[in-house]
Amino acid sequence: MENRRLIKIVGTGYYVPDQILTNADLAKMVDTTDEWIVTRTGIRERHIAAADQATSDLCVEAARRALKNAHLEIKDIDLIIVCNNTPDTVFPATSCWVQAKLEAGTVPAFDVIAGCTGFLYGLIVAEGLILSGSAKRVLLIGGEVLTKVTNWKDRGTCILFGDGAAAVVLEESRDGSGMLSSYWKADGTLTNLLLIPAGGTQKPTTLQTVAENGQFIVMKGNEVFKHAVKRMAEAAEEALRKANIAKEAIDLFIPHQANKRIIDAVGERLKIPKDKIYVNIDRYGNMSVACIPVAIAELRQHKKIKPGTIMVLDAFGAGFTWASIVYKW
Ligand code: ACO
Repeated sequence: MENRRLIKIVGTGYYVPDQILTNADLAKMVDTTDEWIVTRTGIRERHIAAADQATSDLCVEAARRALKNAHLEIKDIDLIIVCNNTPDTVFPATSCWVQAKLEAGTVPAFDVIAGCTGFLYGLIVAEGLILSGSAKRVLLIGGEVLTKVTNWKDRGTCILFGDGAAAVVLEESRDGSGMLSSYWKADGTLTNLLLIPAGGTQKPTTLQTVAENGQFIVMKGNEVFKHAVKRMAEAAEEALRKANIAKEAIDLFIPHQANKRIIDAVGERLKIPKDKIYVNIDRYGNMSVACIPVAIAELRQHKKIKPGTIMVLDAFGAGFTWASIVYKW
């Protein structure tokens, strides 16, 4: 562990759209209640992108804030990675739209698509590229406009999602702080439990696919739930083992915010005290890849992260994919 080269976060920023959709608003749209949504998910409200806001717009705003927080400018960045599941266009990559809007010249840019685990996959990819010398300073962004791929007539999914973005600036660490370990996995045999079925090359968009709502998220919620609890617990245990850090040493557990009951169940399995588990799902819903970086940016804003703070990041998502990272601030 001692001699391992590490990467670290040197700036954070997040952005959520202004418009808020409450559970009471949703109860006017589908057969649901505030009480059902709060009890089953922990969500009270979520932010919704404006009609003219694409994923790249949210990412750009978050990126500007992260650069400002790092006291850097776009010219100081030599790689842009955008993690998302809701691209601006099927191609080119959302990162290229972001790169142009940030006026980043010819800096390389690509997307990481790995369900809600995307941001943790992105951190692991960025670590490899920085430590191999391919990039010195990476702008890693996680952003989603999930509400534009949500079926607003499906009460089983439309209550869950919100829009948002967050960014971090990454570089090699020289002080022993940073990403101590990572663990990442996928199981592609379970793709059908959570997906957008149409609009790709398997099922190109036709009048028929639109009539069947194939452009929207389809999910077997209770199946996803069970796998998420099991895999998130496994990922955190493995990442901690690799970092040689005891559970008792964790200061902050930052899980993906899919459902408060999933977070509680994972916390119980890992025996992490509730006051160490960060929860903001009540205010944002599930923003997929944006959940974990928004949480980190908020925690920093509220001075809850100090030098030496040990954080465990833990996520699960479509694919299925799952990952965990142990990080020492
Ligand atoms: N309001 C009221 N009743 C509802 C609602 C609603 N919004 N949604 C479902 N119900 C009803 C169902 O119709 C069902 O009724 P029935 O018993 O008469 O058939 C009943 O509530 C129970 O339904 P379940 O689906 O079994 O409810 P569950 O407790 O599993 O909660 C939920 C559903 C909230 C979706 C949960 O399964 C969940 O959170 N799953 C995980 C979601 C997730 O993690 N997604 C992954 C991230 S997305 C990504 O990767 C991009």
